[in-house]
Parts: sequence; C-alpha cells; structure tokens
Amino acid sequence: MTAEPQVPPFYTKLQGSLPPDFTWGYATAAAQIEGAWDEDGRGPSIWDTFTRLPGKIKDGSTPSDACNAYHLWKEDVARMKEYGARAYRFSLSWSRIIPLGGEADPINEAGVEFYSTLIDELIRNGITPWVTLYHWDLPQALYERYGGMLNKQRYTADFLRYARLCFERFGDRVKYWITYNKPGLTTRAKYAQGRNAPGHVSDTEPWIVGHTELVSHGYVCEMYKRDFQPTQTGCIMITLDGNWYEPWDEKDPRDIEAAERAKEFEIGWFADPVHGKGDYPASMRAQLGNRLPRFTEEEQRVVRGSSDGYGMNSYTAFYARHLDGVSDRSDYRGNVEFLNENSKGNPRGPETDTHWLRMAPWGWAKLLRWIWARYGVPICITENGTTVKGEHEGPAPAAPGEIVEDPFRAELFRAYLAEVAKACQEGVVIKSYFAWSFVDNWEWALGYTSRFGVTWVDYASPQKTRYAKRSAYALREYFEFLIAQ
Ligand code: NOJ
Repeated sequence: MTAEPQVPPFYTKLQGSLPPDFTWGYATAAAQIEGAWDEDGRGPSIWDTFTRLPGKIKDGSTPSDACNAYHLWKEDVARMKEYGARAYRFSLSWSRIIPLGGEADPINEAGVEFYSTLIDELIRNGITPWVTLYHWDLPQALYERYGGMLNKQRYTADFLRYARLCFERFGDRVKYWITYNKPGLTTRAKYAQGRNAPGHVSDTEPWIVGHTELVSHGYVCEMYKRDFQPTQTGCIMITLDGNWYEPWDEKDPRDIEAAERAKEFEIGWFADPVHGKGDYPASMRAQLGNRLPRFTEEEQRVVRGSSDGYGMNSYTAFYARHLDGVSDRSDYRGNVEFLNENSKGNPRGPETDTHWLRMAPWGWAKLLRWIWARYGVPICITENGTTVKGEHEGPAPAAPGEIVEDPFRAELFRAYLAEVAKACQEGVVIKSYFAWSFVDNWEWALGYTSRFGVTWVDYASPQKTRYAKRSAYALREYFEFLIAQ
C-alpha cells in the first residue's frame, strides 16, 4: 500500500511541541469491532440482547459480526504498525473472559488466550497496549441476576474479581489500564434516555449507577495499587466524557451559569469525586437533592485520587441555554438546552454524519484548559475523531489497496492537534492522543451508519475487508511533525 499524504502543513512554530515520549495511536471497543459474539465460549452481553429488541438500533443491525476483528486481529496489528501508531487502546469483552460474569463463575480460557495473543502481537510490533476493562458491555447474566450496576454491592464484587483476573493474566505486559470508558454518557443513555442497553428511563437510576461506577472503580484501583502495581509497575485510570459548553448568550448570566452547570453535570459528576474535592458538584446536589447518592467516608477515600491520569474522551462543543423549568429531557444534563447556534446565529461548527457531532476545535482548546485548571492532573486523551458528512453513503472503494479520500477527517485531526500542541506549549500536561477509531465500526444505537474509522470497512463483504483512508497517513505525518525528536 502506498500513500502520498496531501495534507496542509502545520504552523512551523508548533513543530516539536509534544514531548518525545508522547503516546499516540488508535482506540476501539470490543463490542464495536470484534463480532464472533457467540464463538469459543463467549457469553452474551446486554448489547447482544438489547439489539434484538425492535426499533432500538437505527439501521436494525446487531454487533454479532461487527468488523470481524476477532478473526482479523493479526492483519489489524500489521495495519496499525503501517499507520505508525505507537499504542493501541482496546477493550476486553468481560463476557468473553467470564461468560456469566460473576465472581464464582467459570473462566473461559479461550477468551483469555485471545487477548493474551493480541497483546503479544502488539508488543512484538512495538505497539503499546492500553486496555479498557469496561466499555459498556456488561455480561447479560449479571443484569438478569441482580440488575447489574443497580446493585452496588454485588456488582462491585464481580467487577473486582474480573479486574483481578485481567491483572493476573495480562498485567505482566499491560502497563496502562482503564477501568471505565465514558461512564457519564453511557449511564445517561442507558438509564435516563433508554437509548443504550439495558434501555431504562428513570430519574433516579442514572445517579445510582454512576455511584456504583465510581465506587467500583475506586476499589479496583485500590486493589491494583496494593497487589499489582508494586511488581507490574503499570498505571490505572478512568476515562471520562466531556464536551465544551459555551453560553448561548455570552452576556446573559443565566446562560453563563448554564454552560458551567452543563460541564459539571457531564464532567464534574465523575471528575470532582475522582480528581477534585472528592464529592459531587454543588450544582448537582442543588438540582438533584437526595436522588444523588452520598459517599461514605470509606468510599470517598478509595475514589478520591484513585486515577493516575485524567482520561479524556472529547469530540465537540455546544451552545448552552438555561431553561426555566426542569423537564425530564433536561434534568439529567443540568436543566440546560444544547443548541447548534448561539444567540447571534453563529454555528458551533461544520456538520458530520453524526447528529451530535460538529467539528469545533475552538471548544476543544477551551476544554483542555478548563480541565487542567480545575483538576491539575496529567491529561491522557483517549478518544477524539469524527465521521464525515456523506461518507457512510459511499462511494465504497473499488479496488483492493485503494485509499479512501477523507480530507474532512484529516482536517479535524490537524485542527484539534494544533490545539493540543498549543496547550502543551503553554504548560498543560498532555500525555497521549488516541484517535477514534482505527476502523469504521458498530456505533451502538446508530448501528453501522456512523463511520468513525481511518480504515474503511466494507460491511457487505463476508470478511469485512479493510481499506486505508488518507487520514491515517495524515495523522502519522502530523505526529512526526509535532513530536520532538
Ligand atoms: C465514545 C465511545 O467511547 C465510543 O464507543 C464511540 O464509538 C465514540 N465515542 C463515538 O461516538
């Protein structure tokens, strides 16, 4: 495969602005790429069940085959190496490792072996594995047994045992662990909006589940640091979602407050207990009252300071306008309306193939500084990327080895990375950047309609054949330019 990057040059003054050990690569998640949902002893996850309910997924699809990464893992690692990636962030499917999920349930050695081989192959190719323990795919059996994360005690015991097994089996080679991916977004989508599995609509459950995630994350970190870190010398963190919220009317104090509240409901909900003062933001307590659980002293002790870095997934920016009365639709986001244009009619950014996502590097620039100022913890960017308007409709590549042109995605990487570089020059500590995603993949409730990859996947082909997109080579070029030699 040959590539001639046709990408605009970066500003010369940003050259070498990222430290030599800066980590960059690609991110994926098991449920979105692996397929092979019932092969070699894997048990079902809540997504396997949820997607069979009519009307839940935009294109009626399931992740049963996804991108066939369970079989194409070796080819995928070779491709990642060709793209120049230094690291690969992927998640483990809990129900592939412990099919029924529980602390007393049997281990599926074939599942352990699959990940172990993948880890070896990555290391052999000079690609550092970053492993997420939980990327939204709870074993179905735990949901059926006790309601999954709604039962803090039983769930935490099961999650601890699963995490311990992963540290025991993979921790000799994996030095970067992430407990949860984006708990905020998924918890809202799962328990407030009913959009994600298991599809509940409730005004109390999101806060109960969020608390379970925080507390179980804390206990897993405590266990890792006590029993594994001294010998395995790795690190552990939680990765949080968060977009930027700008006041709809910059002169209206109520919108200024609403924009801050939106960030606190989305980011502060998890980041304040972990990286901040050890409790939920006051704005959340004021609106949610006793619906928001309280930390016991012990919970607070294990949660606060538990994460070795600030894991950051971020994509876009919105305008935030205050609402006068709390409604079901705005309650979980802090009683704020999210808009595409501000009061002057300025749009937040160019459209993509995904309704919530617009290219908005201006917001990303502000967000990096907001996180750094509020928490002062080294930032590990674990996800950022885009879909491209019209890309999903094709045209699909015509010949083997053809490179798909995606200038919009390359431009997004360039614009967002310029902000990373500028922030680093100012002293904001940023350690990594993982592009979402390595391959087009199954985008949860949006099915296969949102292509986020730097690799085109031909979903119609039995093998799920891959084709490089130009942005993969652009990204490599950007990092060659930005990282100090
Ligand atoms: C965040 C999630 O972690 C990932 O699963 C999803 O595909 C991307 N954002 C894009 O929406």
